[in-house]
Amino acid sequence: CGIVGIVGTEFNLKELVEDLQKLEYRGYDSAGVAFYDNGKISIQKSIGKIKNLKSKIPQKKTSIGIAHTRWATHGIPNDINAHPHTDCTGKIAIVHNGIIENYYELREMLKSKGHVFKSDTDTEVIAHLIEEHFKGDLYIAVLDAIKLLKGAYAIVVMHSDFSNMLVAARKGSPLVLGRGKEKVVLASDVTPILRYTKDVVFLEDGDVVLLKDGEYKITDLGGNVVLRKVYHIDWDETSAEKSGYKHFMLKEIMEEPEAIESALVGRVTLEGPVLNELKEFNVERVEKIKLVACGTSYHAGLVFKYFVEKHSNIDVEVDVASEFRYRNIHVDDNTFVIAISQSGETADTLESVRLVKRKGAKVISISNVVGSTITRESDVTVFMNAGPEIGVAATKTYVNQLIVLYILGMHLLRMKGIWNEELQRDFEFLKQAPEIFRKILNNIDLEEISSYYKNYHHFMYIGRGINYPTALEGALKLKEISYINATAYPAGELKHGPIALLDPTFPVFAIAPKDNLFEKTKSNIEESKARNSRIIAITNESNKELEKIVDDIIYVPDSPDDMYPLTISPVIQLFAYLIADMRGYDPDKPRNLAKSVTVE
Ligand code: G6P
Repeated sequence: CGIVGIVGTEFNLKELVEDLQKLEYRGYDSAGVAFYDNGKISIQKSIGKIKNLKSKIPQKKTSIGIAHTRWATHGIPNDINAHPHTDCTGKIAIVHNGIIENYYELREMLKSKGHVFKSDTDTEVIAHLIEEHFKGDLYIAVLDAIKLLKGAYAIVVMHSDFSNMLVAARKGSPLVLGRGKEKVVLASDVTPILRYTKDVVFLEDGDVVLLKDGEYKITDLGGNVVLRKVYHIDWDETSAEKSGYKHFMLKEIMEEPEAIESALVGRVTLEGPVLNELKEFNVERVEKIKLVACGTSYHAGLVFKYFVEKHSNIDVEVDVASEFRYRNIHVDDNTFVIAISQSGETADTLESVRLVKRKGAKVISISNVVGSTITRESDVTVFMNAGPEIGVAATKTYVNQLIVLYILGMHLLRMKGIWNEELQRDFEFLKQAPEIFRKILNNIDLEEISSYYKNYHHFMYIGRGINYPTALEGALKLKEISYINATAYPAGELKHGPIALLDPTFPVFAIAPKDNLFEKTKSNIEESKARNSRIIAITNESNKELEKIVDDIIYVPDSPDDMYPLTISPVIQLFAYLIADMRGYDPDKPRNLAKSVTVE
């Protein structure tokens, strides 16, 4: 979601909506504004893109306005669930980006105190909590309310008793502040702020801000004033839309740590991995899983197969949807169907869901888009919470699919009474994944390697076991955006045909972490080298065994065996991105492809 708040001398409401439009890439299923209107709060909302809202906005001036463009997480996109949300009195209005984990408990508590809720959102709880704590001082009320919140939030709050005040807070979701000549502006990123000032403050977790009479004060949760550095931004507005990155694809890869955090919220508990979405399912009964998806989502499904089959007797079958739907699929009471679709609109995947539903199967969907068709047609949806992805090639949504599928697998195993040290290590790793990704993305430098390989016409990606899907995904990324012929094989299958292709013009990209199959993969690397192929390998940093064998090597942090598909994914994505860019192609809009394929 994207949020904006402005307070200061009177401004035209349309300006606020234009500022919000700069955040449309963050979500666009509904939008709304609240503004100070002669001692009252007026609200205007609209479903769909911000231009719908713009056409409804009156020609009016105000001294305070807050605005929101939504990417639904709780509650389908409609006028009622659109932000801003208000308390019972209608005197408090709030916009929120993030997910409140304990919203259900808080809502029950507030209901028991007489609060009446209008929407299905987690955000409305915050408005009522602030109302509950309001004793005349909005800043204190916000401070007291947010101490009770678990999860992630960036909020901006207004109250109709104050014609020149906003209060904002941040934990886990971004919020930037800038002071223009006569106004102070808050927004989810710098883009809307740049027309007021180029000097901005990036708020940090735990910061609470009081904006009043053209000034701002930042404090911690204890009310102590904190000082934050002012950064000077010299981007123009177009590059600011991409937060300064050249392409959305690069921006979205760099957002992976935050995306993972959102996927883990509420699913990592002290007792272990939990998926409340599956509460109604008798997961302990499952013996067979049929998984259906297309493209990148299919590759994520394959990782799940290797993971779950390794740790249990559950049979997992993975199919591409355009095959699955024309096969004679058998389902019984102990079979679960999992359909993965980032967009939730892929025609073949949807038809597969309909097919198995007609046969009486229960369907769990995994999607990134609340309200999408798949979420309405399956029995339950596990959302991946990656935020909108604009680049056609899936990057952060692939990573979040993996995260959600690992959690789903772990939840399933635990419910079936299966848990061991290795799974515990995997789980601990998932908890640290945002930090590990930050480290990878901050340190990796693939410019030189990509520049060397950019002119090859062919690539052979190889991997084994749980990293065979990684090879498939690496090859798909490269071919879809750089138009290089990249093919992927299980490393052991090379000798049954594809090895005939290898020569010095045909490099081999080996996914080769030091896992239980490393020795086998190493032999396949040697075989490829013997055919004079140039070898580029990805392995883990403590494994030096490939240094003398391969031509180029990329290291990722040591990880549990099951988790390498995760740690290697940003590397294969960045490699493909850099090559496409160096070849002069636009990776955000590859030829012949669409983000969401609604044809069969
Ligand atoms: C298209 C996209 C791919 C995506 C596939 C499945 O082909 O270009 O990147 O993986 O659709 O999309 P879905 O939204 O169902 O995950």
